[in-house]
Amino acid sequence: MSRLVVVSNRVAPIEEGKATAGGLAVGVLDALRKSGGIWFGWNGETVKENGPAKTQTKDNIDYVTFGLTKRDYDHYYRGFSNATLWPIFHYRIDLARYNREEYDGYRRVNMAMAERLKPLLKTDDIIWVHDYHLIPFAEACRMLGIRNRIGFFLHIPFPAPEILTAIPPHNELLKTLCFYDLIGFQTDTDQLAFQDYITREVRGVLEKDGSLTAYGHNFRVGVYPIGVMPDVIQKQAESYRTRRQFISRSIEGVPYKTIVSVDRLDYSKGLVERFQAFEKLLEHFPEHHRAVQFVQIAPSSRADVVSYQNIRRQLESHAGHINGHFSELDWTPIRYLNKSYDRRTVMGLFRSSDVGLVTPLRDGMNLVAKEYVAAQDPENPGVLVLSRFAGAARELNSALIVNPYDHVGMAEALDRALRMPLEERKSRYEDMMRVIRKADLASWRDNFLRDLRAFSSKALVQSIETKDAAGEEVDSKQKVAL
Ligand code: F6P
Repeated sequence: MSRLVVVSNRVAPIEEGKATAGGLAVGVLDALRKSGGIWFGWNGETVKENGPAKTQTKDNIDYVTFGLTKRDYDHYYRGFSNATLWPIFHYRIDLARYNREEYDGYRRVNMAMAERLKPLLKTDDIIWVHDYHLIPFAEACRMLGIRNRIGFFLHIPFPAPEILTAIPPHNELLKTLCFYDLIGFQTDTDQLAFQDYITREVRGVLEKDGSLTAYGHNFRVGVYPIGVMPDVIQKQAESYRTRRQFISRSIEGVPYKTIVSVDRLDYSKGLVERFQAFEKLLEHFPEHHRAVQFVQIAPSSRADVVSYQNIRRQLESHAGHINGHFSELDWTPIRYLNKSYDRRTVMGLFRSSDVGLVTPLRDGMNLVAKEYVAAQDPENPGVLVLSRFAGAARELNSALIVNPYDHVGMAEALDRALRMPLEERKSRYEDMMRVIRKADLASWRDNFLRDLRAFSSKALVQSIETKDAAGEEVDSKQKVAL
């Protein structure tokens, strides 16, 4: 079988038990563990000068990483990726900025990454590229003559064309995306938004076989909702006895209930709206005073991007306001922890909590929603309260689905969740577990790679018969090499 080469902006830390930042890292690492291969990307550090990539091998994975110069970091990561693409793809035009130099830096780093990867590749490697930082990566590879099959998976939402076109070079950017052989999305909404752009904005064609033709490329698109590994999560959750810590925090011998949320500190996660909803719960349902505690874990993220500094300030001020207003000597309603914990601790915390509150304003999938459910005790499961704007809501419709812009509606859902009888909790849990088991992480990986293998060889032969990346005719020997 061909080797898997995963390319993502950031490569997760390889030390066992270390906290990982975000669903991508968790998903990719677990996906690679089975097949083995290369994980190629940024090591998270800034360096004075570009140096050679470093390889560390653990088990069956080669982690090939490199640093970014301050200029590349500013332009590619902090700038175009996280101050232009991220807000726009999450429908926050108000928070987006565009700077041509940063866009050039984004293109430059994609090209430099492709150049670094090229000497490591074998002819039949299959390349799986992840997320919005690397939209032009396949184009860069093709320009360097790399002919391997290349697939792309977008972990975040794909915006409606009206939003996307706010990015000045949207056309050029989307043209580069069409160099991939297969483009995967989290939900059908994302895929439809992309198809809408391709067919209406650039007059691309949706072919009878479901593939798309645009900018002179024929490629396939598909929906591959990322999942989790429920059995592994169950074990982690069972092994960590967080419950005792919470039970010991009782008032006059009565343990209080716990609502839990775990997110990167990001404005797309709806943290402020969630705090406001919790405040409404305490205002409208005073019976929960001294009977419930909300634990929000939110490690800082992209702390040098201005909009992230603002959201952190807002959150701290809301938590302070709510605690100042409602706290008693023996009860603090919100515990806000601005730090990360290892997965075992988090899964144990999920299992020991009565409600999982996952309410992003917009999210590609949100694996926390699936992890919360998978971590529950089947005999006494907690309740998931989930935003309709998380990709996960399209699958987990037995959660209590809420609109995060409706604070009172969220408060009502929280009240309902806190009072939900065991039978209903079990029935909702079982429904969701069926979905989680069926669309688990292995099927996400296997379905994507199966489709990439099946389609791209045909597509590549087709495009190579016409011309190579530089537009020159190629001979038939190269076809055999595929
Ligand atoms: O899932 C979205 C995502 O941007 C991933 O690409 C990334 O691994 C994660 O969030 C964490 O973001 P960052 O690498 O910017 O800290």
